[in-house]
Amino acid sequence: MKNGALIFLAVFVALGGSWCGFVLAPELQLGGAKQTTILNSSDVYPVGRPGEATQGSSVYRANGCAVCHTEQVRQTGITCEVVLTDAGKTPAAVTKVCVDIGVNMTDRTWPLPLPKTILTGLTKEEADAASGKITTAGGKVEIHIAATGPDIARGWGMRQSVAEDYLYDQPVQLGSLRAGPDLANAGARADANWQLLHLYAPKSVMKGSTMPPFRYLFEVRKIGREPSPDALKLPPEFAPHAGYEVVPTPEAMELAAYLSSLRATAPLYSAPIAP
Ligand code: HEC
Repeated sequence: MKNGALIFLAVFVALGGSWCGFVLAPELQLGGAKQTTILNSSDVYPVGRPGEATQGSSVYRANGCAVCHTEQVRQTGITCEVVLTDAGKTPAAVTKVCVDIGVNMTDRTWPLPLPKTILTGLTKEEADAASGKITTAGGKVEIHIAATGPDIARGWGMRQSVAEDYLYDQPVQLGSLRAGPDLANAGARADANWQLLHLYAPKSVMKGSTMPPFRYLFEVRKIGREPSPDALKLPPEFAPHAGYEVVPTPEAMELAAYLSSLRATAPLYSAPIAP
C-alpha cells in the first residue's frame, strides 16, 4: 500500500465534503428557524398542528402518500395590484385619473363597491406611480402583492412554501414526484368530510381520478340499531349493500385531520402576499 495515505485523504475529503454540503450547510441555514409573526399582525406563525393531525402525519407517512404528492409550492416572482379603497371627496377627479392610467371605467358609475382591485400584474414602480396619481387626485389606494408561477397558477397555493411552514413536521414530507396535486395547501381547498370520501373512493368526488382508493382505512359494517353519525354519505354507485355502512377508522379520521391542517395562507416576511 504505497499510496495508503493518499487514498485515505481522498476518501476523507470526499466524505467530509459531502457531509458539509448535505448536513452542515443546511443546518447552518435553517437549523435556527423559529416561529415568526404574520405580516401586518402580531399573531405568531406557525402554531403547532392539533394532536389528531400530528398523528395523521404518521398515517400519511405509513401509506406512502408522499410517493405521489409533494408538499412544496414554488413561486417564480411577484406582481403588484392596486386596490382602490376610497374615492375621497372628488370621485370625478379620481375617475378621470383612473381612465388616464388605463383602468377600464366604462359602465362603472359611482359609488363603486369599494375596495376594488383596479390594476393587476404591475411592477413595484408601475404600482407606485399609479398609486401616486390617484392619491394626488384625492383617492386612497393600497398596493397588494400577489405571487406568480406555475404552481400558483394551478391553484396549489397563494405563496411559496418557506422553512417556517414545516417547523412542527417530523419528518418533513416534501415529496419529489407529482402524480397528484401538491398538498401544501390542501386544507384550504377541501374539508375533512371531502377528504374521507376521497380516500374511500376517489372517483366518488373526482371524476376519472387515478388515485388508488384506501379502503382498508375504513370499516364496512352492518348498520346496528341506528346508523353511525360518522358513516360516509356516498353516492349510490359507491355505497355498500343495503343495510351496511362505511365508517372511517381512527387512522382515517387522523389522516383527514392532517390533510385539513395543511394550510399555507399566512403572509410572511419571506413570502409576502396580500392577506
Ligand atoms: C399512485 C399515486 C397516488 C398515491 C399513492 C396517493 N395519491 Fe392522492 N392523488 C393522486 C392523483 C392522481 C390525484 C388527482 C386526482 C384526484 O383528485 O383524485 C390525487 C389527489 C389527491 C388529493 C386531492 C388534491 C386536490 O386538492 O385536488 C388529496 C387530498 C390526496 N390525493 C391525498 C392523498 C393521500 C392522503 C394519500 C395517501 C393515503 C394519497 N393521496 C396517495 C395520486 C396518488
